[in-house]
Amino acid sequence: MSDRVRIFDTTLRDGEQSPGASMNVEEKVLAAKQLAKLGVDIIEAGFAYSSPGDFEAIRKIAGEVEGPVVCSLARAKPEDIDSAWEALKGAPRPRIHTFISTSDIHLRHQFRLTRNEALKRAVEMVSRAKGYVDDVEFSPMDASRTEPSYLYEVIEAIIEAGATTVNIPDTVGYALPDSFGALIRGIKENVPNIGRTVISVHCHNDLGLAVANSLAAVISGARQVECTINGIGERAGNASLEEIVMILKTRKDLLGLETSIVSEQIYPASRLISGITGMAVQPNKAIVGDNAFAHESGIHQDGLLKDKTTYEIMTPESVGLSRSTLILGKHSGRHAFKTRLHELGYDISGENLDKAFERFKALADKKKDVFDEDIEAIVQDEVLRIDLPERYRLVSLKVESGTEIAPSAVVQMEVNGSVVTEKGGGDGPVDAVYNVISKITDTRSRLLKYSVNAITGGTDAQGEVSVRLQEDGHTVLGQGSHTDIIVASAKAYINALNRLEYKKKENRENLV
Ligand code: KIV
Ligand code: ZN
Repeated sequence: MSDRVRIFDTTLRDGEQSPGASMNVEEKVLAAKQLAKLGVDIIEAGFAYSSPGDFEAIRKIAGEVEGPVVCSLARAKPEDIDSAWEALKGAPRPRIHTFISTSDIHLRHQFRLTRNEALKRAVEMVSRAKGYVDDVEFSPMDASRTEPSYLYEVIEAIIEAGATTVNIPDTVGYALPDSFGALIRGIKENVPNIGRTVISVHCHNDLGLAVANSLAAVISGARQVECTINGIGERAGNASLEEIVMILKTRKDLLGLETSIVSEQIYPASRLISGITGMAVQPNKAIVGDNAFAHESGIHQDGLLKDKTTYEIMTPESVGLSRSTLILGKHSGRHAFKTRLHELGYDISGENLDKAFERFKALADKKKDVFDEDIEAIVQDEVLRIDLPERYRLVSLKVESGTEIAPSAVVQMEVNGSVVTEKGGGDGPVDAVYNVISKITDTRSRLLKYSVNAITGGTDAQGEVSVRLQEDGHTVLGQGSHTDIIVASAKAYINALNRLEYKKKENRENLV
């Protein structure tokens, strides 16, 4: 059996199903380029039939991103398979991933199909996909709660129909490592033609076991793992790519397995996805959390100073966490700026580079040292958000607040190209600004979350504001950064309003 485990990244599909984490087309393309640099084997770029935005993102990734296989999800329905093919046909190596539930719970209550009907549909749709591409993946959804003998029967039939990868999902994160490993062994022992496919696993993290279950499956013979950057995904998320990869790398002595991942690209990928989705990484997250390589205890520090291996099982550099010693400032030129961007994983040129450099210069005038985190915030603010239809734009802002006066704000905005000025008050300066912005934009969204973080240390640090808004069943995140946190707050709010507009227009269907 091969000792190489394929990494199937589903950050742009299942990861994007995290509440509020939707990405626009340009953001997905940028993320896909970083995934290619990271060396993933397969990028699941989206679900073509679910929305025009997803279709377009898959089409662009298929045409522009070199290296990995590009895949689209498709329900076991003719229209989904056809749409997946339409989106993928520019890809040098396209894959269609089709699925249908096989557990009695899902078949009875959700799909209202008999086992025989589901099996027939699965076979028909694998054959249909096979008419378009050689590389077809099939998932019996909710496999871990499916009666094993029926699961074996479905798998055998879809392999006969031409599936080249069979993916075993633990859709609701219910499995335990021992039983999930045994399920994979059961499949190997009871499906006669299993040798003609790659066995894949797709684990959710509802009980915090997604990585452990994936690992148990790999130990039992699975050779593809579906995972996401930072473990983002539906509900509690998917198995985290960085954890799977670093387990295989760090414990190669025991497991004897490898991946094609360039581990030094893990940290840039993690930052990029966190920046695009607005989903912060918890500080104690394995591999990519802020504290993952921070040693606080005196005994540990003492040991580390004597020999790194005393308390370090992998180096920060091996996951790309080699913060630059080069700190940029107002004398830094365009070349140094571009070089640092490249090191951070952003290959930006032309107009985007001009914009980011202009903003960098303005920041460097206000702030003595410009750190990597500042540069990432600039790129996220100026470049990654360019694709949003900018219905609303902040022109200027003035606030008054203090211990002796009622907070008030005057905001000037561009709405659909016309400049509008309004004033108003609130409980505090941010509340006053937000009240005026909703008056100008005539929006009634609910603010679910507001948070502000200093991007770096020091009182001249940039503040990064994240907001979560909800309107008409759509939830979006907005972000903004600035050395003035009131301006950052206004930018985050306006960014979220623009995202809401985008979502409403796209009217994405929730099909999975
Ligand atoms: O969790 C799941 O079962 C899925 C399938 C579509 C593979 O995401
Ligand atoms: Zn899933």
